[in-house]
Amino acid sequence: MTTNPIASPGPAAPDTITIGGELTVGRIGYGAMQLTGNQVWGEYPDREAAIALLRGAVDAGVTFIDTADVYGPHTNETLIREALHPYPEQLVIATKGGFVRGGFEYSTLGAVGNPNYLRQAAHTSARRLGVEQIDLYYLHSGRATDAPFEEQVATLAALREEGLIRHIGLSNVTLGQLRAAQAIAPIAAVTAHYNVGMRTGAELLRAAEESGAVFSPWHPVRFDEGGETEKVTAVLAPIARRHGATLQQIALAWHLHRSPAALPIPGTTSLTHLTDNLAAADIKLTAADVAAITALAPEA
Ligand SMILES: NC(=O)c1ccc[n+]([C@@H]2O[C@H](COP(=O)([O-])OP(=O)(O)OC[C@H]3O[C@@H](n4cnc5c(N)ncnc54)[C@H](OP(=O)(O)O)[C@@H]3O)[C@@H](O)[C@H]2O)c1
Repeated sequence: MTTNPIASPGPAAPDTITIGGELTVGRIGYGAMQLTGNQVWGEYPDREAAIALLRGAVDAGVTFIDTADVYGPHTNETLIREALHPYPEQLVIATKGGFVRGGFEYSTLGAVGNPNYLRQAAHTSARRLGVEQIDLYYLHSGRATDAPFEEQVATLAALREEGLIRHIGLSNVTLGQLRAAQAIAPIAAVTAHYNVGMRTGAELLRAAEESGAVFSPWHPVRFDEGGETEKVTAVLAPIARRHGATLQQIALAWHLHRSPAALPIPGTTSLTHLTDNLAAADIKLTAADVAAITALAPEA
């Protein structure tokens, strides 16, 4: 008897993922960036709601939160501390350093990578978060030109040796930069732009899988990127109907089926959306669902 791939569920995605061989978290994290002001600048307008959302996220089972010193700047980290410190033992917080803002307009984003700056950034992130050691510290980009990339990674490696950083991650780097970094220090996680319609991070995903690093796709529930929104929606909608799920849940389920290294970090300001996002971990897509979504955008 032949099985119908459209009707039969594929293998279930694992419930957890392990960072750096030791920090085990749920497959769907929370990206806290939205809990800032307009253009990721300043405080989120409703502080009580933001605190309630972060506490609700942890109560709902979130064990991985992604933030950065540049979100606000600084306000996102201090908000997380206010909402959640002392942290539950199983909660892993990832933060990032290396981006700076010149003012309100998001277009002022720049990158700094010299050792004193990165060292100060990591120390002050730890201080704002209220931790002695940062679980996962990402270099926020490979764009800084004030120090060679290898020196930036070496700075993080030294911070790891000193105990301030538990694991090193890389955000928005090239494949060549990832390879160069791996020659200097263990890279536990990579984060990049990757979703149903936009696959900028595809080669980093493959490299992360090969090396045993976690791959954390950012903008994981967006399906309006890549310029083919109608085409993407036309594929996602019938799959969503069949599974009784939303388009965002199908997008998240696809990440988990697409790669065992995936640790998506959907951002939301709504507790309802957050619980919907966590529930996506239980959706079992068919092999045909996964293939149809994967085919929506080039990965070369
Ligand atoms: N490394 C980097 O350079 C980088 C860059 C960008 C982002 N990030 C990280 O990635 C995280 C995610 O990115 P993001 O927050 O911009 O985008 P996202 O998670 O892809 O999408 C956020 C948008 O989707 C909506 N949404 C989320 N869940 C939904 C659901 N179940 N149903 C309907 N709508 C839903 C949110 O609106 P509602 O608030 O109404 O739910 C929001 O408008 C950030 O928080 C940040 O931590 C990293």
